[in-house]
Amino acid sequence: MTNATVEVHLSPSFFDEALRSDARQGLLAQPRRIPPKWFYDKRGSELFDAITETEEYYPTRRERSILASHAREIAERTKARTIIELGSGSSEKTRLILDAAQREGSLERFVPFDVCEEALRGALNVLAERFPNLDLAGVVGDFEEHLWALPQGDRRMIVLLGGTIGNFEPTSRAAFLASIRTVLAPGDWLLLGTDLVKDAAKIERAYNDASGITAEFNRNVLAVMNRELGADFDVDAFAHRAWFDAANSWIEMQLVSTTDQRVTIAALDTHIDIAADEAIRTEISAKFQPDGIAGELTQAGFRTEAFWTDDLDDFGLTLAQAI
Ligand code: SAH
Ligand code: AVI
Repeated sequence: MTNATVEVHLSPSFFDEALRSDARQGLLAQPRRIPPKWFYDKRGSELFDAITETEEYYPTRRERSILASHAREIAERTKARTIIELGSGSSEKTRLILDAAQREGSLERFVPFDVCEEALRGALNVLAERFPNLDLAGVVGDFEEHLWALPQGDRRMIVLLGGTIGNFEPTSRAAFLASIRTVLAPGDWLLLGTDLVKDAAKIERAYNDASGITAEFNRNVLAVMNRELGADFDVDAFAHRAWFDAANSWIEMQLVSTTDQRVTIAALDTHIDIAADEAIRTEISAKFQPDGIAGELTQAGFRTEAFWTDDLDDFGLTLAQAI
């Protein structure tokens, strides 16, 4: 990995404190919830990648097809020198953009940024072989806390793919988009992937794959809390549920207790009593209308320059410029 570096902003104490605080605020409250970023330990990142291969989970394939059609245009229009990817995971689709930007001759540096160090290092290993002349400057951090660590410079493009923006609730989503705008300068770019509103049954199928990989991904957050917080969740005593909430235009993932149970959380020095059928919300994933995306970007200080969808209008990709 000669052309790759990794900067780690998640110290063990930051990580511990953040998880404790999220668990205290989310699990001791009603209804119970835990933020989705805690899915992504090494196993969680592997399970996410496996989800993207399931027949039911359309977003990754659809977004990849948009990138395959428009990466060249994106490279030509932005002439990006630095591409920063937030929640980069495997960066697999992003290679289409990197290839195009290299062909354009503008690209100097790629900055993948992820909360999961194992996923980031795995991605960098592949990228270093594939892009030996590119400066690869990985950042391990929380994009809600550490955007200040992003590099300065002109002609930067932040990419946020996969529909990850949909994992925020509307108020935090507006704050997050505004925080992205704050780290950019006028003229810099944002490339944003969003899953679109469609037939609810199709969305629900994508989050209830027949092979049960999404269910395993969902339950993995309990394994993370058992390991990191000394909790004793009985992982098998929770059922996976994912349902489309049309009023909020998001799919909600939950873990539903199959029995009355007491869970001890050693790191919080407490226990919680969870009743049979009680749900812990683990994720929301918003589905967007094209007008809504453009409106939210305007609010955050961006001008939408292009919006593309795939052949089935399942997924949207927006290219916006900071004003
Ligand atoms: N962009 C990839 C991966 C999407 S999965 C794709 O389109 O396929 C979501 C990714 O965001 C995971 O890699 C996860 O580790 C990362 N992530 C989730 N919450 C994060 C946070 N708060 N800060 C940084 N990365 C985060
Ligand atoms: C990362 N994020 C956009 C995915 C989504 O679709 O909300 C995570 C995921 N959850 C279940 N399946 C995939």
